[in-house]
Formats: sequence, C-alpha cells, structure tokens
Amino acid sequence: MAIRPIITLPDPRLRLVSEPVATFDGELQLLLDDMLETMYEAPGVGLAAIQIAVPKRIVVADATRGDEPKNPMFFINPEIVWVSEELFVYQEGCLSVPDYFEDVQRPARVRVRYLDRTGATQEIEADGLLATVLQHEIDHLEGGLFIDHLSRLKRERVVKKFAKAAARAAPVADKVEA
Ligand code: NI
Repeated sequence: MAIRPIITLPDPRLRLVSEPVATFDGELQLLLDDMLETMYEAPGVGLAAIQIAVPKRIVVADATRGDEPKNPMFFINPEIVWVSEELFVYQEGCLSVPDYFEDVQRPARVRVRYLDRTGATQEIEADGLLATVLQHEIDHLEGGLFIDHLSRLKRERVVKKFAKAAARAAPVADKVEA
C-alpha cells in the first residue's frame, strides 16, 4: 500500500467526469488499498479516485468517529438511486479544498447502488454523516465539488483564494519577461 498525493484546487483534473470501472483485477485492489491509506493518513472521511488524479468511479469512505472501530467502505461505480425529501445541513470540507469549511444542505438519507471489491452489486441506505459523505464523493465522480453547492459569491471567493495561492507557489522562472 502507498499514500498517493492528493490534488487540490485549482487543479483542472478535479472537474473531470470519471469513467466506470470495468475490470476487477489486482491493479484495482491495489488502487482501493492506496485510496484507503491515503484517506486515513490525510485524515479524511471519504476520498474519490479523481482526488489522487485517477479518473475512475471509485469512492472509499469511513464515517466512523473518534474511538469507534474503523469501518472502511469501498464503492465502485456508485449511483444514488433514492434520496429523502428531508434535508440535513452538514459543515463540509474537502481534502482537495484544504482548510475551507462551509454548511451544505443535502438530502438527509440516500440509497446508493454500487459494486463491492469483488464486483458484486450491493445497495446501502445511508443517513447521518455517511449520507453526506456519499453525496459529496459521488459529486466528485461528476467533476463536482462541495463549493458548487454554495452561493456564487462564496464559491468565487474560495476559487480566487486558491488560484492566488497557486500563482504565488509557481516557480519564479514562469514569470520571466523578455
Ligand atoms: Ni471532497
């Protein structure tokens, strides 16, 4: 297993639509293990493959908290097949938008159909933190970010902040004029 680098805003790959997984081979198992280790190390409660620059429809999650025993979950080609009318507000953050948190309102409960590590079809009904995590991560598979759920003003402010930080971090040689 290996920890892979997490890409962050404004990396354009975060806006890619990820491709479905078709082959359940050793390479996939390795990717799943790397994603889990990367998520735990960050630490985060969920990670989509595109966040480590792999445009595949894969999500790992562990919505347990504090001293609860770990519960790693793997969702391949996940699809939301039902959402509750009831809504829930959670203060969300994202490993690809580091150190930024905002309230996001989403359905309180969702049913998700997905393939497990062996390629078998599964369905889960989630509520609480897991419901939010699943919706947040499935957004990533469509090139979505949680900031897309914010007001335009808030979103533009955070996008600008990250663009400026990236420009500052760029090597000086990029700025040579002649
Ligand atoms: Ni995220």
